[in-house]
Amino acid sequence: MKSEPDERHIIVTPTERLALEAAERIAEAVDETLQHKQIFRMVLAGGNTPKKLYQCLAEDPFRSVIPWRRIHFFWGDERCVPPDHPESNYRMVREALLDRLPVPDANIHRMKGEDADPPQAARSYEAELRRHFGQEAGQGPPKFDLILLGLGTDGHTASLFPDTPALQERRRWVVANPVAKLKAQRLTLSLAVLNRAARVFFLVSGADKATILSQILERSPEGLRLPAALIRPADGPPLWLVDDDAASRLRPSQTGERL
Ligand code: 6PG
Repeated sequence: MKSEPDERHIIVTPTERLALEAAERIAEAVDETLQHKQIFRMVLAGGNTPKKLYQCLAEDPFRSVIPWRRIHFFWGDERCVPPDHPESNYRMVREALLDRLPVPDANIHRMKGEDADPPQAARSYEAELRRHFGQEAGQGPPKFDLILLGLGTDGHTASLFPDTPALQERRRWVVANPVAKLKAQRLTLSLAVLNRAARVFFLVSGADKATILSQILERSPEGLRLPAALIRPADGPPLWLVDDDAASRLRPSQTGERL
């Protein structure tokens, strides 16, 4: 029996509006959170899809209305490369967003992909999270105000790839995940942290994601086993922000709000 996802959490937009829609939702989340908290802690996604969103956030109106000095930036995952490497998620975010905004360096919490010992880099990032969250985290995983995620054509998200050890991690907050198909390790937040988030926004664009997105949102038996399907935050289902191309294989009943 495939249970229908709550369609309120799937927003379909034309490709050219996806970044703006996501930026508006992020601005709303920031505004809502900063009514009762001093800072907003946001985990950024890597890859190509979010670039346009980051560029949109760095332009007016968002550049002017979002109180950037009260936002702390973290990464959901990072490639094991130096921060100036073309494949670095940090470099992509710096160029698309951070270099264009008045964000204090102290608010930028980079995963050190350049570390020759990826497990040590993961432990160091976890230590930084523990320092930053302090007692607030207590013993449990830290609670980010917003986690942005992308979706790979194989159903991975962050660097939680199918059939990789990180999917079994129950204790650590950050791990070095060996990804055989990439012949590389990746640094990634664990499911425990991702599912602790106050909000999770998936940003999905492109016809190449249509099949995998449909499998996940249909909650078919194989879809339910995919890493992105394991993102079920206790505070409420993820918000799926998808463009028309990525939504092209969803049943009409699944495409909630079409903008
Ligand atoms: C990364 C991302 C990864 C990404 C997906 C989708 O480091 O690559 O964290 O999870 O979100 O692979 O990537 P695209 O947006 O490039 O399709």
